[in-house]
Amino acid sequence: MSTTTYRKLIATTLTPHFREAAEIVEEPIPEPGRGEVLVRNLYAGVNATDVNITAGRYSADPELPLDLGAEAAGEVVAVGEAVKNLEEGDAVVTGLLGGGYREYQIVSARHAIPVPEATPEALSVVVSGLTASIALGVTGDMGTDETVMVTAAAGGTGQYAVQLAKLAGNHVVGTCGTDAKVELLRDLGCDRPINYRTENVRKVLREEYPDGLNLVYEGVGSSLFDTCVDNLAVHGRLLSIGYVGEYVEGLERVEQPRIYAKLLGKSASVRGFFLPHFRRYFEEHTQRLFWLIGQDRLHVAIDPKEFIGVESIPDAVEYLHSGESRGKVVVQF
Ligand SMILES: NC(=O)c1ccc[n+]([C@@H]2O[C@H](COP(=O)([O-])OP(=O)(O)OC[C@H]3O[C@@H](n4cnc5c(N)ncnc54)[C@H](OP(=O)(O)O)[C@@H]3O)[C@@H](O)[C@H]2O)c1
Repeated sequence: MSTTTYRKLIATTLTPHFREAAEIVEEPIPEPGRGEVLVRNLYAGVNATDVNITAGRYSADPELPLDLGAEAAGEVVAVGEAVKNLEEGDAVVTGLLGGGYREYQIVSARHAIPVPEATPEALSVVVSGLTASIALGVTGDMGTDETVMVTAAAGGTGQYAVQLAKLAGNHVVGTCGTDAKVELLRDLGCDRPINYRTENVRKVLREEYPDGLNLVYEGVGSSLFDTCVDNLAVHGRLLSIGYVGEYVEGLERVEQPRIYAKLLGKSASVRGFFLPHFRRYFEEHTQRLFWLIGQDRLHVAIDPKEFIGVESIPDAVEYLHSGESRGKVVVQF
C-alpha cells in the first residue's frame, strides 16, 4: 500500500455473518472539503451490533456496499477551509456509522470531538458510554437507592451502566458468563455479580431480591429478558437496549401470554432505546462521561486481546460474539 491510499472494510452482501459480508478495499486518501477534517484512525471500537449493520438492519433500504464500523479515535491530519475548532495533530474521537473500520475518514469538524489523547478508553465513550448514560438517565429515569440490574454487565456498554448506576447511589446486580468477568464486575463496584453459567439467575433474584428490580439495562435478550421482566418491581422499568443472543441466528419464536399481563399489575414498563434517536443529549452526556473519567470516578476496561489492522476486524467481531471478551474490544490501525 502506498501512502496515497488507505484501506477500509465494506460489506458487499447483506448477512449477519460478519466475515462473509466483509471485504477490504483500497482507495485514494481523500482531501477534506469546507468544514471537514481528515482523521487518521488509530483505534476503532467493536460492537455487538456490527452484525446488524452487515445484515442491513440499520436502514429500511440498505444500499451496497456499506461502510462498516462506528466509533474511532484518531489524529487530525488535514483541515478543510473554514474549520476553526481543530488543527492538524489534534486528537479526536468520532462516532459516525461507517467511520470506524477504516484507516482514514473524512468527517465534519462538528462531529470530531477533541480529546487529550486518542485512546481506546476515549473512543469507548461515544457509543458504549453514551448508550448507558442516556438510556439510564433519560429513558430509564434512574433514581437513587434502587436495585438496578445490568445484563452483559462486563461488556463494552454494560461496564458503563454498572458504574453509572453505582455513582447514582444504587444497588447493582450484574450478569455475565465467566468468573473472570465476575472479578471485573467486583472491581467496578457491582454489588452482586452473577455468572449465569454457574448460578441460576431466576433463583438468585427470587431469593435475594424478593421486592424486584427497579431498573434493568438489558442487552442480551432471549430467556434472560424474560427473567428480568418476570422480576420487575412495582413501577419497575426495563430498558431493552439489545438482544445480542439473537442477532446472528435470528429471532426466536416464542409462544406465551401477551406481555401486558406481566406489566400492568405492577405499573411496570419495557422501554426500547436506540442511541441515534437521542442526539440532542450527546454533548451533555459526552462531557459528563469525560469529566467522570478525568476525575477517576469512572474506569473503562479495555479487553487486552490485540487486534491489529483492517484484516483483523472479522476476528475481533467474532471474538466479541464469543462471549469471552471483557470490557471494550478495540482494533488498532
Ligand atoms: N440500543 C443502542 O443504542 C445500543 C448501543 C450500544 C450497544 N447496544 C447493545 O448492548 C448490548 C451489548 O453490546 P456491546 O457492543 O457492548 O457488546 P459486549 O457487551 O461488549 O459484548 C457482548 C456480550 O454479550 C453477552 N452475551 C450474552 N449472550 C450472548 C450470545 N448468545 N452471543 C453473544 N454475546 C452474548 C456476552 O457477555 P456475557 O456472556 O458475559 O453476558 C458478550 O460478552 C448489545 O445488545 C448491543 O446491541 C445497544
